[in-house]
Amino acid sequence: MRVTAERAFKSPSPIGVFDSGFGGLTVLSKLIETMPEYSYLYLADRARGPYGGLSPEVINTYTRQAVDYLFSQGCPLVVLACNTASAWALRNLQQRFLPAHYPTHRILGVVRPSAEALADLPVGAPSEEASNASGTVAVLATHATVSSNSYGLELAKLAPRIQLIQRSCALWVPLVEEGEISGPGADYFLHKYLDPLLMPNVAQPSRILLGCTHYPFLFDGIRKIVPPSIEVLGQAQIVTDRLVDWLERHPEMRERLDREGVERLTVTADEDAFERYGEQLLGRKFSVERVSY
Ligand code: DGL
Repeated sequence: MRVTAERAFKSPSPIGVFDSGFGGLTVLSKLIETMPEYSYLYLADRARGPYGGLSPEVINTYTRQAVDYLFSQGCPLVVLACNTASAWALRNLQQRFLPAHYPTHRILGVVRPSAEALADLPVGAPSEEASNASGTVAVLATHATVSSNSYGLELAKLAPRIQLIQRSCALWVPLVEEGEISGPGADYFLHKYLDPLLMPNVAQPSRILLGCTHYPFLFDGIRKIVPPSIEVLGQAQIVTDRLVDWLERHPEMRERLDREGVERLTVTADEDAFERYGEQLLGRKFSVERVSY
């Protein structure tokens, strides 16, 4: 049985899940559904998010501070459930921060597994494998993710025959953060970014990846606009499958994670709004704790 942190003591060794705001909850929900035995500590940096319009330096600093906080709370493993943080901070954290400060801890991101899914590579495929996947795919993401060209770089290695379109949908994250996920206001901003992609005189994608973990909250509206012939992929299942596989291959980390099924949600600001909108977004009640670091 799952217990929330309100009723339970802090889990000694949870999986950390980080996002600038609500977006990572789409990933957290799927992780809990698939691996309820583990404990999770979610952190939303709502005080400083959204990150999508920030500079790479600032995204790096904020992400490092968030990861440091999650490590200080006992997480030996952190999933950056945020494309923007994965695109700009993951490599630095893995190559510099971990070896210098937490050599036995691990940080995983969401860009690489999603690029592998676009390349139609099976979960756990060897990293040098490239696929024959072709056609046009579109990645919709924040301004920072698009400007990093992380998806372009990964797909050039994994599936060089794929034509990639990348579009920033800058106003979608604020819509989700304000709980405006349906209705005429949300529809206006969905059309604003989707219509140019779907114009009859341009090459239409056969697949669209929602390359920001906030966007699945807008899925119903997106699906109404995008023709059924175009597949719309979210990342929650992809990232979860990848983590299941990764834990299989890393028994030393599996052994360090506790199996108490505790869920603790933390935010850096606006815990009341987070509880209110979060309930609306996820369809269940949860309690949220405000933290600072
Ligand atoms: N949900 C995040 C992502 O996947 C962050 C969005 C933002 O902070 O702008 O990119």
